[in-house]
Amino acid sequence: MKKITVVGAGFVGATTVQRIAEKELGDVVMTDIIEGMPQGKALDMMQSAPIEGFNVEVLGTNDYKDIEGSDVVVITAGIARKPGMTREDLIKINSKIVGDVCENIKKYAPESIVIVVTNPLDIMTYIAMKKTGFHPSRVIGMSGLLDSARFATFVAMELGCSPKDVDAMVLGGHGDTMVPLPRHTTVSGVPITELMDEETIDKLVERTVNGGAEIVELLKTGSAFYAPSAAITAMVESIVRDQHRILPAAVYLHGQYGYDGIYLGVPVKLGQQGVEAILELDLTESEQAMLDKSAEAVKIGISTLDI
Ligand code: APR
Repeated sequence: MKKITVVGAGFVGATTVQRIAEKELGDVVMTDIIEGMPQGKALDMMQSAPIEGFNVEVLGTNDYKDIEGSDVVVITAGIARKPGMTREDLIKINSKIVGDVCENIKKYAPESIVIVVTNPLDIMTYIAMKKTGFHPSRVIGMSGLLDSARFATFVAMELGCSPKDVDAMVLGGHGDTMVPLPRHTTVSGVPITELMDEETIDKLVERTVNGGAEIVELLKTGSAFYAPSAAITAMVESIVRDQHRILPAAVYLHGQYGYDGIYLGVPVKLGQQGVEAILELDLTESEQAMLDKSAEAVKIGISTLDI
């Protein structure tokens, strides 16, 4: 039985644990700094097992010892973005939290694969790689799959077709500089550039770029968690079941796409070793220019860190 830890039992963390348990991807440990809260949520989830029919254990804890031997650790611990707050505002607070969490991962789960979710994503994933000292193929950020799912949702809504048939591709940083790729976004294999006009695509792209902020504005006291937890769970599944799925994710680039030493969202192959391959797409000049802007924003974020 695989063992999966989710650090941070808030909206994203707890929903992820629920999805992982219901899919029986492994036993799950959910940890948080708030005493009693992960234990309460875990017990509640265990009591759903007879009804849902899942056969894995969910443990809530405040003790990092319990994460010992985890195959995958998902980091959702942090402060969620509030209305009006940019991802960059979060750097200071969340880098301290992620740094502390990583010290414990290094100590108790040194063989694990780490999936970072805490925002600002590309920066937090970089911190996690540095603080754990793990090989970059074992430290991955969840961003592109969520952004792609948002783009796919808007495409399906626009065409009135099933979201199941839409395959979207979004590259770049998880923020205002993400790079949705209409050329590589297809409905049952047909590029959307053949299905809708440029103006419509631009509108959907813009809504995708503001996808997180749109939800923050509506919720007022938190940020998205249903789609993020679905994206995390798909990544965990590809790793623990060694599915070799090709998904966009934030990974450490060492030369690919012309960048070195930063985390940025690109298509990767995910299996039980973590990142098995980084796929390099041929980009048009304007796509590359957008990606350059995205990479520049991530570089600036990294340069503000004192690690
Ligand atoms: N160790 C463990 N847990 C922590 C720590 C820490 N050092 N610091 C904070 N937490 C916990 C909080 O107690 C809280 O329960 O992290 C949890 C975060 O949950 P929420 O506030 O509900 O935030 P959530 O919506 O889940 O978002 C978490 O994911 O998508 C990103 O931007 C989002 O960075 C945010 C993260």
